[in-house]
Amino acid sequence: MPNEIAHVDALEILDSRGNPTVEVEVALRNGSVGVARVPSGASTGKNEAVELRDGDPTRFGGLGVRKAVENVRTILSERVLGEDATKQAAIDALLIEADGTPGKSKLGANAILGVSMAVARAAANSVGLPLYAYLGGATARRLPIPMMNVINGGKHAGNRLAFQEFMIVPHGAPSFSEALRYGVETFRALKRELERRGLPTAVGDEGGFAPDLESDEEACELIVEAIERAGFTPGKDVAIALDPAASSFFSDGAYDLASGERLDREALLDLYARWVKTYPIVSIEDGFDEADWDGYVAQTAAIGDRIQIVGDDNYVTNPKFIAEGIRRKATNAVLIKLNQIGTVTETVAAIELARTAGWRSVVSHRSGETEDSFIADFAVAFGTGQIKTGSLSRSERIAKYNRLLWIERQLGTQALFSSPFIAGDQAD
Ligand code: PGA
Ligand code: ZN
Repeated sequence: MPNEIAHVDALEILDSRGNPTVEVEVALRNGSVGVARVPSGASTGKNEAVELRDGDPTRFGGLGVRKAVENVRTILSERVLGEDATKQAAIDALLIEADGTPGKSKLGANAILGVSMAVARAAANSVGLPLYAYLGGATARRLPIPMMNVINGGKHAGNRLAFQEFMIVPHGAPSFSEALRYGVETFRALKRELERRGLPTAVGDEGGFAPDLESDEEACELIVEAIERAGFTPGKDVAIALDPAASSFFSDGAYDLASGERLDREALLDLYARWVKTYPIVSIEDGFDEADWDGYVAQTAAIGDRIQIVGDDNYVTNPKFIAEGIRRKATNAVLIKLNQIGTVTETVAAIELARTAGWRSVVSHRSGETEDSFIADFAVAFGTGQIKTGSLSRSERIAKYNRLLWIERQLGTQALFSSPFIAGDQAD
């Protein structure tokens, strides 16, 4: 068999926060090799597939992944040895079966995903295609609009900000590489603006600045100022996207903002509606607690015709929860994270399900990342049109942007790039 899996190995490596994570190497009989590194979240949804950690307090405060590594080297390796690496769905089915639990808690989603991604890479190398072309086929050519997280708060920074992510969306740019430049120039202007106001310019987990602002709204004001100072038109050239990750500031039925205000669902909904009128916001993700379905439904009914409403913690890239969201009209888009569900095939199923409902998908990194740029290829492969992969600093974020630059170059005049947020432009 030409693409037979001959060897599977794994290693405990470190992610961008210095926490242990899993790297997997898959080698085929014909000499092709695929390597993948698994990311890790901080503001995780309750129903995410389980990241297996050793829990041994004498190593990395219990965060070691030696068991997951061992599971790759033994149980998972035995399952896939001799299999055809180009049969991704069949291999993922074997991995899921080997674990046998709904949340992949027995062997670890970190172990399973590492094998699943490394198999895809090995197969792509074996057939001589770049990963995006192997996974997406000959028509994969849409570069994603980046959502760049330039101000970090919530669980990604030690500041007062309740909202986790304030992102810029350079959707008026004519190409991906120009969008990247718009982003960098706005990020630099934001730095100068922070310095001008005497605020710190140290960065958070996703490479955005983490100033201790008086209110969450101040971050929106600062970004608009930065967009203008960089010479761009807010809304037209560069828009704003938010991921409040509201589960992380929700308790006892109310939401605690950086300003000290405590808002109930209706008041928070009013705040979003007001911000959408005041700032050039095109997308809001996780605006309510992950269990607050009524909040999502009310928000989508109120402003879902004007902006993108994305579900992350409530769907955890799981077709079961996405189907529930579609039924309830809870959002009009879904965040896609491979490690929330644990295999390449199931992640693709989540994107396909969203598409059947007319929803958009945003492929996303995690706050704990590695130098692996798998999601750059993945976003192009499935033509999602949007990617969330951090700010314009920290190499684990930049690695994805740099990979997209190469994909853009390889596609040449075939490359597509357009804003899903500007009337007349088409994402799909
Ligand atoms: P996480 O954050 O990777 O820490 O979960 C990312 C997000 O909420 O989108
Ligand atoms: Zn999120």
